[in-house]
Amino acid sequence: LQQWESVIPLYFGWFLNEADSRMLKLVSLAHLEECLKIPEFEQDFKNFTHTSDMKDMLEYYLMPESCKEGMLHCTSKFCSFGDVPGSLEYTTSKDVLEACGLCYKLCLVGFIITPRTFGARVKLGSKELILWGQENDCPESLDLPPNTSYGRPFLHNNNYQNPIVNQSNKGKPWFPHCQATLVSSEKLEPSFHPTSGKGSRAHVTLGCAEGVKAVTTGYDLCEVIECEESPEVTSRSRTFALERGWLRDYGKSRWVLYMNRQITVKSLFTGCY
Ligand code: A2P
Repeated sequence: LQQWESVIPLYFGWFLNEADSRMLKLVSLAHLEECLKIPEFEQDFKNFTHTSDMKDMLEYYLMPESCKEGMLHCTSKFCSFGDVPGSLEYTTSKDVLEACGLCYKLCLVGFIITPRTFGARVKLGSKELILWGQENDCPESLDLPPNTSYGRPFLHNNNYQNPIVNQSNKGKPWFPHCQATLVSSEKLEPSFHPTSGKGSRAHVTLGCAEGVKAVTTGYDLCEVIECEESPEVTSRSRTFALERGWLRDYGKSRWVLYMNRQITVKSLFTGCY
């Protein structure tokens, strides 16, 4: 039997294809625009972004370095090429080896909006939770070595076919398992605590303020979860009804949109090397 050396990626996660990434960005901006109809939110957003017109407001968040190719993802385990404890065990685990190259559904249940980050909140199902490898506590910030390069997600060959190019996608490769699948589906019960416990920090970073690293979205979501768990904070927080859900102000410019319909999107589980 040939022995293979394990190559540990920068991170593992669920990746949206290009078309769905573009669509989710547009959908998220439409949600942000709807939030801006609430005068209290608009005022706070203008204050912390130092913007005044709609175009500048919607362009405040920039795509982080790790998404510069435009493909959005939900990190399941940050490995930093092996520097993070447990990375080798995670990379070589049977669950992860079998999952690479497979398609998973991601359920997006809300958005978080802060002066630092804009993110979509992911509610992981039981199949996805098996692959969740991040700490549950808010992590200490971990600086990457200065020469870290950013790569495209690696497409494993075991269960994954090469991107197909045909007439209908006009010469551009597409993901055979993950065609444009962004669908607004199931109606959600009003819940101001849609994720808790293992995997509650799961998210898709949609954008960051200039100079802010993508990892910050997870920290902002941690803060929000702490607020949701604190009766003292929730009793003080203001809630505004919107067509698409409920917008809540947790103070210190931490806003959360709880959607009344979840967005389901297909994704490919793999590593980014
Ligand atoms: P996120 O999952 O919030 O988007 P970077 O952009 O710094 O290269 O990071 C690559 C990916 O790994 C990003 O998706 C990022 O954040 C996530 N990430 C970066 N650093 C960490 C960390 N220390 N802990 C958990 N996730 C991290």
